[in-house]
Amino acid sequence: MGQINLSISTKLIDDIAIVDIHNAPVNALSKDVRIGLMEAISQSIKNPEVNAILLSSQLSIFSAGADISEFSSGDLTPVLPDVLHLIESSSKPVVALVNGGAFGGGLELALACHYRVSFTSARVGLPEVHLGILPGAGGTQRLPRLVGAKIALDMIVSGRPNAADSLEGLFDLVIEHSEDAMTEVAAFVQSIKNEPIPRVSDIPLSMDDALEQLFNDYADNIKKRSRGFFAPLKCIEAVKHGYTSSFDDGLNAEKALFMQCMQTPQARAQQYFFFAERSASHIIGLPKDTSTRVIASVGVIGAGTMGGGIAMNFANVGIPVTLLEQRQDALDKGLALIRKNYENSAKKGKLTAEQVEHRMSLLEGSTDYDSLSDVDLVIEAVFEKLDVKQAVFKQLDKVCKQGAILATNTSTLDINLIAQATDRPSDVIGLHFFSPANVMKLLEVVRADETSNDVIATAMKLAKTIKKVGVIVKVCFGFVGNRMIEVYAREANRLLLEGATPEQVDKVIFDYGFPMGPFTMGDMAGLDIGYFVRESRREFIAHDPSYCIVADQLVEQGRVGLKVGKGAYLYEQGSRKPVPDPEVIRIAEQKAKELGITRRPSDEISEQEIIERCIYPLVNEGAEILAEGIAQRASDIDVIYVYGYGYPVYRGGPMQYADEIGLSHILQRLQHYQETLGEYGKAWFTPSEMLVQLVKDSKTFASIDKE
Ligand code: 3HC
Ligand code: NAI
Repeated sequence: MGQINLSISTKLIDDIAIVDIHNAPVNALSKDVRIGLMEAISQSIKNPEVNAILLSSQLSIFSAGADISEFSSGDLTPVLPDVLHLIESSSKPVVALVNGGAFGGGLELALACHYRVSFTSARVGLPEVHLGILPGAGGTQRLPRLVGAKIALDMIVSGRPNAADSLEGLFDLVIEHSEDAMTEVAAFVQSIKNEPIPRVSDIPLSMDDALEQLFNDYADNIKKRSRGFFAPLKCIEAVKHGYTSSFDDGLNAEKALFMQCMQTPQARAQQYFFFAERSASHIIGLPKDTSTRVIASVGVIGAGTMGGGIAMNFANVGIPVTLLEQRQDALDKGLALIRKNYENSAKKGKLTAEQVEHRMSLLEGSTDYDSLSDVDLVIEAVFEKLDVKQAVFKQLDKVCKQGAILATNTSTLDINLIAQATDRPSDVIGLHFFSPANVMKLLEVVRADETSNDVIATAMKLAKTIKKVGVIVKVCFGFVGNRMIEVYAREANRLLLEGATPEQVDKVIFDYGFPMGPFTMGDMAGLDIGYFVRESRREFIAHDPSYCIVADQLVEQGRVGLKVGKGAYLYEQGSRKPVPDPEVIRIAEQKAKELGITRRPSDEISEQEIIERCIYPLVNEGAEILAEGIAQRASDIDVIYVYGYGYPVYRGGPMQYADEIGLSHILQRLQHYQETLGEYGKAWFTPSEMLVQLVKDSKTFASIDKE
């Protein structure tokens, strides 16, 4: 007994061997842990003084499962299933003490033990599906044997964690995490040590008509809900195997399906994205111990589309908000809309009536700037006009207390110029929410030239508090997300002039994995939004007379999208279903003729061309953004695209997608369009120097992130 290796230690208390895992921060089942566990269990089995084994954790989490970073390194021996086989076949009873979270291989480890004890506070789940794979250490075979097919499918296919005490059949004992807890655990182990050893794999499973129906219905439903994802259907297949074959055959099927998933680009993309999301919170050059300011109250200026949603984020987590408007009627309208949103959530059963009232009670309306004198943070969400915003910040400088953070939700404006309207530019930052602000997970945290480190650290921490994913960016037109989306929208619009139809482009982009194509998205957001952005920079786009010209024409005809029933599509009264409109094609034909653009029949514009024309410029702009240092790393750009723009996570984001298909291919195709699209191609398809250099050096975006 003693220290087996850095991650595993054992001690003997009476006749119980305690095997402790200690692999900070989350007890990932890394190679060291697997080797240590095999050694510790084998020693305990051999040791005549041991009558039972208690497997526990020295951290507040039981285990986060396999070490995801090892998946790409290849050396997985001893494999986790072999460790679990050793535990399950042990001649001495093994009890898992699930003191905190048990996820993926962590839960599978507990399932291979003969008994499971947990604390009521523990949460458990099999989230492998979010990594593009399925549980590969017996989870698809053992979990259904304890909780039944329906709950096992729910857990494995959704990947969502559950409270330990809500899962009947999974644990033999669930106890409060009190001072006496360990005495209770010890008594439990003593009570089972001489009992016949129960093994989950011995529990029989068999298929019947009702189960067959359950599996079929589940698969049909998932095909719709998880459109484009590979792993969810494989999860169902693996669980189903358990009901039609022996335990060992089920394990073999699980292994084969696991390997099949692991080799897909989707698995690579989703595992990459797991780390991308986490590294976004690490700010290069910001000391880890940077202090943060306390944000206990917030002011939001402007109760329009964005201000209302932003205010809700804070009320949702119990932070009181003062919502400020110019006029009482605008304020009343904004507050009424917030109430309606909450009541709609209550109708869907997501909130109780009391929660609605509690959240509304945290929102106080005002038309007087003095009411912001004591708040810790103000977020401005007024009209997108520099002079209006500067006037607001001048006012804030006068009324806000020292130390308050002054933030703007601007989508495009120069935050340095906004900061200069105050005498405290180091307290000014951009907090760029995405619409609908109470729903979208992304928060671009825009550091201006003088923003202080503690303001940045506070903003990133705050993102977590309001359940957003914060990504730090620097100031430029449109920051990262909107600067890139502009090139995508530009290309979609240009394709219309060249002969494609809105529904053709939208279908290709939808099939690529976005929730909707660019024309449906434009109509939903309002075509006037993009139009006003273009108005503010006509000089910059003047060299290209075709630039979004069909969209401009639609707006000038009052066709601003869904809200008026017509935009790039038509919408019947009360319907959100886009209906193709020949008038839009007529406008495109007319404009192409005026500009001398040769049109092609729509069926001569291939799916591949639409993807290359819309997605590859995103990558190229992303490379420029990296070269300029606007984003810290390529993976941050991907996080922005997945959480802000619905980029399919199974492709990892535009930069990971580019790495996956090869940067030299992207470069070659950009050069192809640069050469074949005449003046237009020369204007917009010049490859970024960074991209050219990466190809020359045989590097990837991921490789430079690691440098
Ligand atoms: N492998 C490697 N590193 C991991 C990890 C894992 N399974 N889980 C977490 N980490 C790392 C994170 O990257 C992060 O590193 P960083 O500090 O350098 O950025 C650190 O641990 C802390 O993680 P979080 O920031 O996510 O911490 P939280 O406290 O917010 O969340 C958690 C903890 C709920 C455990 C969350 O980390 C999580 O969901 N982890 C992944 C769980 C998972 O997917 N498990 C399945 C793995 S695959 C598997 O088990 C296959 C098997 O079936 C064979
Ligand atoms: P909006 O027009 O819906 O709302 C603006 C609100 O600000 C109006 O209610 C107006 O009465 C109020 N207002 C104007 N001047 C004011 C002042 N001086 N004091 C107090 N209130 C004032 O506009 P929206 O869409 O909410 O946009 C607000 C900001 O958010 C803009 O900067 C915009 O660029 C940005 N943004 C918008 C997104 C969107 O999708 N709508 C997405 C992300 C950012």
